[in-house]
Amino acid sequence: MPANYNESTAQAVLDQNYADEFTMPNKDLYPHMWLWDSSFHAIGLRHSNPKRALNEIKILLRSQWPNGMIPHMTFTQRDTKRIHGYKIWKSHVCDDCVVGLKTSAITQPPVIAEAFELVVEKLPKKEQRAAIEKYLPQLIRYHEWLYRERDPNSTGRVVIIHPWESGMDNNPALIENLRQCFPITWWEKQFLKNPFIKAFYHARRKDIRLTSPEERTHSDVNWMLGKLIARYRRKLYKLDDILKDNNSFVVECILFNTALARSNASLSRLAKKTQTTLTSELQESIKKTENSFDDYWNDQDQKFYDRDWHSQTHIRIPTISNLLPLAAKKLPKQQADSIKEVLGSQGYSTKWRTATTPQDTQWFSSVRYWQGPVWVNTNWFLIKGLENNGAKKEATKLKRQTIKLVEQSGMWEYFSPLDGSGRGIHDFSWTAALYLDLKN
Ligand code: GLC
Repeated sequence: MPANYNESTAQAVLDQNYADEFTMPNKDLYPHMWLWDSSFHAIGLRHSNPKRALNEIKILLRSQWPNGMIPHMTFTQRDTKRIHGYKIWKSHVCDDCVVGLKTSAITQPPVIAEAFELVVEKLPKKEQRAAIEKYLPQLIRYHEWLYRERDPNSTGRVVIIHPWESGMDNNPALIENLRQCFPITWWEKQFLKNPFIKAFYHARRKDIRLTSPEERTHSDVNWMLGKLIARYRRKLYKLDDILKDNNSFVVECILFNTALARSNASLSRLAKKTQTTLTSELQESIKKTENSFDDYWNDQDQKFYDRDWHSQTHIRIPTISNLLPLAAKKLPKQQADSIKEVLGSQGYSTKWRTATTPQDTQWFSSVRYWQGPVWVNTNWFLIKGLENNGAKKEATKLKRQTIKLVEQSGMWEYFSPLDGSGRGIHDFSWTAALYLDLKN
């Protein structure tokens, strides 16, 4: 098939989704600001417009809470009727919230420090130091918050408290875990089956109006995701109370910790450049995270798995998370080889790869959000991981395939791993941004 899309199409997507100060993931379906999306946008934009890329970081940091957290979403005035919009969060109930902005009360994979380092590299030499001195303290405060609030046992394995914090909103391992710790009741099931309720609920779900229901979360999952927020809101988002509650979702997620490990490395390099000393607590936590990846390794299955924090056990459902430690650091050869083997297996290496849930499992769907489709950002992490683990050839191959997929199908949110067709929403910013990054 001929290449129909190119760098100018990608740039046009980023321009059309620009909203005065930052880039929205998509102006129709996602007219707000998301933490890891904007970080990816900055990574792509730095090649053509480092100033705009730096601004993405600056605007993200404006949402930082006084306690250091950077929220996963900052709401704009557009689309105030969103079903999981600000009304469900009411983050102002939390003492620590930022004043003057409407944000969610959870975070998302901490890609921001890595994005910032990559942006700084593209700034004119004489502006680099000033930029680091200006923004590094806020990034350090974010990482300190992650360890203070989200590493309750000081293991270096930071926890997430909602599947949305993983960025992989409908990842089967996380959703199955949610079903177990916070099951949907019989009454709720009946309620959601009622045709009037169903019609009303569906009408308020913009995602299934703009895409197709089989590409999005099931209504019962969507319901649970919202109900979990309401439960946390009633606890005023206090982590101690959330952890004490056995119905809370508390997971040590590989993708989240991989992003953290990568950003920790960026933070340390940036600090060194400006002779900034990180506190000994932070340095120690950084080391612990780097050394913690063995804890995700399951000897019996010879795989890495996310961990349930309450029971301290592996969640033995295979997803793209199995492969991501590759991107966290240079792994021992045996582990790196085993990941490369799984990556090359039929489950993940479909015609268009990499499937986010392996096709030879009961959880696979070629079209449903995070349950199989290829996402450009997870491929981007894998490419970095292969490069860092001495597999340059495989990295180049995956890079070429990812570029080809986008050039052939377009700037879709995600893609069927079976036929490469675009799924979700079209004109999706991080696909465009990371495509530009892979091309440069
Ligand atoms: C979807 C993705 C999430 C992303 C958001 C905005 O919910 O699962 O990772 O941040 O869209 O693009």
